Amino acid sequence: MKILGIETSCDETSASVVSNGVVVLSNQTLTSLKEHARYGGIIPEIASRRQIELIYPIVEEALAKANVTLNEINAIAVTTSPGLLGSLLVGISFAKSLARSINKPLIPVNHVHAHLYANFLRMPDEKDKILPKLPAIGLVVSGGHTSLYLIRNFKKFNLLGSTRDDAAGEAFDKVARILNLPYPGGPSIDRLAATAGETQLTFPRASFKDSFDFSFSGVKTSVLYHVQKYSKDKNFSIPEIARAFQQSVVDVLVERSINACQHYRINTLVVGGGVAANSMLRQRLFNRAASLGIYVFVPSMPLCLDNAAMIAGIGSVLTQRQR
Ligand code: KG4
Ligand code: ZN
Repeated sequence: MKILGIETSCDETSASVVSNGVVVLSNQTLTSLKEHARYGGIIPEIASRRQIELIYPIVEEALAKANVTLNEINAIAVTTSPGLLGSLLVGISFAKSLARSINKPLIPVNHVHAHLYANFLRMPDEKDKILPKLPAIGLVVSGGHTSLYLIRNFKKFNLLGSTRDDAAGEAFDKVARILNLPYPGGPSIDRLAATAGETQLTFPRASFKDSFDFSFSGVKTSVLYHVQKYSKDKNFSIPEIARAFQQSVVDVLVERSINACQHYRINTLVVGGGVAANSMLRQRLFNRAASLGIYVFVPSMPLCLDNAAMIAGIGSVLTQRQR
């Protein structure tokens, strides 16, 4: 079974063909990120205008790269939520018209669930890659979402907790802005933090009694106050602040997801979303989980960020009976 996936929920325009819900035959992604950088965040109008121009060529490219014709496609999967309304509309209208013109089913996909499905995909050169098994705990950490799920099957994501304010990626982006680092903030902070040594500086780690919820607005404000108070000090160091901030976010993400695994007695943890690209998060999760016999899965870099392969992948499962 070959599914064409289409993703346009934020600044990316992406199309992909996935075979049998696992093998990524193509995954073509273009982003308008650079055009937003000078505004310090995504401008929805710029994103959707660019997507209107890119959607047709990117779908053609994905089919050509996969060496598949439209007639060989069994269904079209498209992100229907959550996301920027104008951007979603571009993908949905295109996918809907295309599905109707070739008389194939259209599968609506939740973008956040798809981020976790990215772990269940194989690139063509990853034939021997070990895939996770369900049930699993899923941690989604992106620019707009920070949520923990219990996944028993791909049609049923049980939400255990989510952020009460800023998402983890949003906190990275806002703190980068406070520190005058380029947008998007996650990669900038990740790179800079790696240049700082161990630090005694700490920022708060929020937790809620009997809850798997998150909160990242406190740590962001705390960084702001720190900068306002100490920016004239001779020991003031941006890399040190970046590292201390990253450490506090990573600690919370690691502890909360390991706690969820232990609470539900599940030894598989799958992580997804842009912040899953963070080097400290990856390293700490693997270290902490290994000592507890928990298997951690994080997608390869192109599958961490927004992409259509994860949409096509979960779309295949949604067309079938439950696994
Ligand atoms: O999943 P994604 O590509 O888009 C959304 O669905 O939101 O995630 C984008 C987010 C941005 O906030 C970006 O700063 C963050 O992921 N990000 C990172 C890293 N790379 C991207 N955060 C921390 N460390 C990184 N290396
Ligand atoms: Zn995303």
